[in-house]
Parts: sequence; C-alpha cells; structure tokens
Amino acid sequence: MTTSSTHIIEQRSTTNLFDATSTVSDRQIEDLIALATTAPTSFNLQNWRFIAVRTPEAKARLRRFGWDQAKITDAAVTFIVIGQLADYRTIPERLAPVVEAGIMPAEMVPGWEGAAKILYDDKPQQQRDEAVRTATFGASTLIYAAQAAGLGSAPMIGFDAPAVAREFDLGANEVPVLLLAVGHATAENWPRKPRRPLDQVLEFA
Ligand SMILES: Cc1cc2nc3c(=O)[nH]c(=O)nc-3n(C[C@H](O)[C@H](O)[C@H](O)COP(=O)(O)O)c2cc1C
Repeated sequence: MTTSSTHIIEQRSTTNLFDATSTVSDRQIEDLIALATTAPTSFNLQNWRFIAVRTPEAKARLRRFGWDQAKITDAAVTFIVIGQLADYRTIPERLAPVVEAGIMPAEMVPGWEGAAKILYDDKPQQQRDEAVRTATFGASTLIYAAQAAGLGSAPMIGFDAPAVAREFDLGANEVPVLLLAVGHATAENWPRKPRRPLDQVLEFA
C-alpha cells in the first residue's frame, strides 16, 4: 500500500456534522459510485444498487424514515446502499463482459453458474447474506472513495428498512442494507475513536 492510501484509511472518521450548505455534483456522485463498484463481489455478481438521494425533497422524505437523523438532510448526498438477493441465474450476464475482456474463457461460465446454484438456489438465508455482504463491500469502498475525494461519510443502520424499501420503490429482491451520508464535514466532528487492541481481535494460526 502506498503512503497516501494508508493515510486515507487512517484519517477517516465517521462524520456526524456536515456542512448543510455544500453540495456535490451528479458527476462527482457518478465518480464515487464508479470507484465503489470496483469492490469485489461473490462470482462478480455485483448484486448491489445505490440510490443517490440528493434533492431536498427526497432527503427530507428519507429522513422521515431515518430516525430523523439530521445528517441525512445535511449531507450533500445520502446513499441508500442496496443489496440484491444473490441469484445464480444472473451469472451469464454478469460474466459476459469478463469473457469479452479476455479475462475468463467462456467454457468456465457454466462452472461458476453451477457453483452459484449450489450456494444460493432455494437458500434464502444465503441469498440474503450475500446481499448484505455485497452492499457492505460497496459501502465500505464508497466510504474510502469519499475520503480520498476530501469528503466525510456516515454509515447508518438507524432507519425503518421496510418503509425505505416502500418509499423508494425497491424490488422484492432488494434489501436496503445501509444509508451512507456523504458530504463536506464541519470542523467540529469527533476524531476517529480508539479501536480494540490487536491482541483482542487478531489470532495467528
Ligand atoms: C453499520 C453501521 C451502522 C451505523 N449506524 C449509525 C446510525 O444509524 N447513526 C449514527 O449516528 N451512527 C451510526 N454509525 C456510526 C458509528 O457509530 C461509528 O462509525 C462508530 O462509532 C465508529 O466511529 P469512527 O469510525 O469515527 O471511529 C454506524 C456505523 C456502522 C458501521
């Protein structure tokens, strides 16, 4: 890792207070999501979707179902990070560009599809686990993409998931995994909190 990438990781803290007067352009939002979607997903399923809630009306609507958290409306954009239930039938379509790019031989695709069928078909818990994993990888990469762009971010689980799904027209196969507010942080935010010591979280085997 380069010094600048470790710096970005070390400097991130969760933003609670956003400058409500600052905005980001739709082009900046596209750049952030393009970076976020470089994150890995199982079988390259890319079973995610991001709703960039950035108009005052839509942010106010989301805030009503987000425990009235001010950062939802103060941040320049609040993303609804969605995971889609893993579906092995999407594999041929998702892998076609990989074959086209000459990365993967076409003969390998049925094998991946078969493995995905074994993992997910008729297994609602695994389908949902994968939706949550995928959205979490996406959100996490989005957090660091924002940090690299000089923007703060705030992940939130404090929201009414069924209401958000209903209000923002999520599909029956879609789970609103996280809200992620992104925007310019004010100077008053807390620094990153201390973490548990390594000897409590790391085991060598
Ligand atoms: C999955 C997840 C859900 C969270 N939900 C909320 C939330 O609803 N509201 C809130 O104010 N903070 C929320 N947080 C922020 C955490 O409290 C914060 O990231 C944690 O205290 C660590 O802060 P730091 O990264 O600045 O050290 C959430 C964080 C994560 C990762």
